[in-house]
Amino acid sequence: MKIVVIGAQWGDEGKGKIVDYLANEAQIIVRFSGGANAGHTIVIGGEEYALHLIPSGVFYPDKIVILGAGMVIDPVALFSELEMLNGRGIDTTGRVFISDRAHIVLPRYIQIDKERDAARKKPIGTTGRGIGITYSMKSDRDGIRIADLGWKEKMDELEAVDREFLVPYIDRLKKMSIDLSSYLVHHRNSQVLFEGAQGTLLDLDLGTYPYVSSGMSNAAGAAIGGCIGPRAIDKVLGVFKAYSTRVGNGPLPTEFDGDTEEGAGTESVLDNFVRNTGREFGVTTGRPRRCGYLDLVSLRYACLTNSIDSLVMTHLDVYDTLDEIKACIAYKAGGRIIENFPASVEDLNNAKPVLRSFSGWKKKLSGALTYEEFPVQAMEYIEFIERYCETPIGIVSVGYDRKETIIRKRPWSK
Ligand code: GDP
Ligand code: IMO
Ligand code: MG
Repeated sequence: MKIVVIGAQWGDEGKGKIVDYLANEAQIIVRFSGGANAGHTIVIGGEEYALHLIPSGVFYPDKIVILGAGMVIDPVALFSELEMLNGRGIDTTGRVFISDRAHIVLPRYIQIDKERDAARKKPIGTTGRGIGITYSMKSDRDGIRIADLGWKEKMDELEAVDREFLVPYIDRLKKMSIDLSSYLVHHRNSQVLFEGAQGTLLDLDLGTYPYVSSGMSNAAGAAIGGCIGPRAIDKVLGVFKAYSTRVGNGPLPTEFDGDTEEGAGTESVLDNFVRNTGREFGVTTGRPRRCGYLDLVSLRYACLTNSIDSLVMTHLDVYDTLDEIKACIAYKAGGRIIENFPASVEDLNNAKPVLRSFSGWKKKLSGALTYEEFPVQAMEYIEFIERYCETPIGIVSVGYDRKETIIRKRPWSK
């Protein structure tokens, strides 16, 4: 069976935690897009790990983890991450592979990324990891892939500074390189988990362009970046937070309270509360995340554009102490009600959330072992989202630890 896990919002939904949880029953975990712009946090027995490139299944000693063809890989970041893992007792020998079709991030691209974003009239607020430049080089057909390393003709074409940078890495990268398509055909009876990075609204095509990343973080990207056909995917899981967050610039329609006079827009009361309770600071850059109410308009859009079979809700515990919870069920702009997620950034900037209220449960959710033990108010919030998105919520996460995960429907069954 093949399961794809993607982010259904603006990244940082808790994909790392969920992939680590699901990896227990997988044999192979493939990261299919992005690069070291991602920061996936995994907490196991009180130990916290931050991964940027290595798939989140690496903590099980018997799992194979693969960096897929859709990724852009910075060798410096990759080997320092492996060193960090080995230093903390995670033996990765012989079980970390890279698709020979993956592209390589050069130090020069990182520099250009930082300079170009700083020079923009309206910066995107990139992570400065060279992501956009590497994907542009790829689209321009000037990129360098793992498969090209050591190929004399290609190496001769490179600028001297790039060649000199790459030489010490060639043998190490080549040793990890595989033909991913053939590998997965050979392991056709394995359970394979495809791990996304970023999220639907940061996807180059589906997201809030130009305030997006440059990779394919949607479910279709798992097929391309994971070297399988779309029909080989058995299930798509979309991870979302009980609220919304975003790092960097660009629209976040529920960041401001829609109850104020149109156009006035005050920061939602939720912002500071959620940032502190939910520890909402970026893993890769340490930047505070912008916070807002759950945006159901964009969540339904993510369900539709990714064919999400089942949603995974995370961070519900952050709401444990609130009297009242709100979620956005439509946008209002210029007296008009908008129910479908707009492409235009101008429309998104003008959109004020129409909020629906729910009663809080005022109880610690992490004490529950099954869904049936949840307070009825929490169930009402969850079941409203399911009806609105016409998609079941199969898993609810109520804390960052592996253990704090409530399974409503077993993911590894068809
Ligand atoms: P990812 O990029 O989607 O993997 O998410 P990040 O790791 O960047 O950010 C998610 C943060 O929330 C991390 O600090 C996780 O440890 C934490 N986290 C994940 N799930 C939950 C949850 O259900 N509740 C709480 N309170 N924290 C969570
Ligand atoms: P994970 O996998 C949250 C954001 C950046 C910036 C925009 C473009 O941890 O969910 P880039 O460096 O990719 O060109 O930056 O995308 N961004 C993320 N935000 N989570 C991520 O990854 C992100 N990866 C990129 O903040 O706004
Ligand atoms: Mg993250």
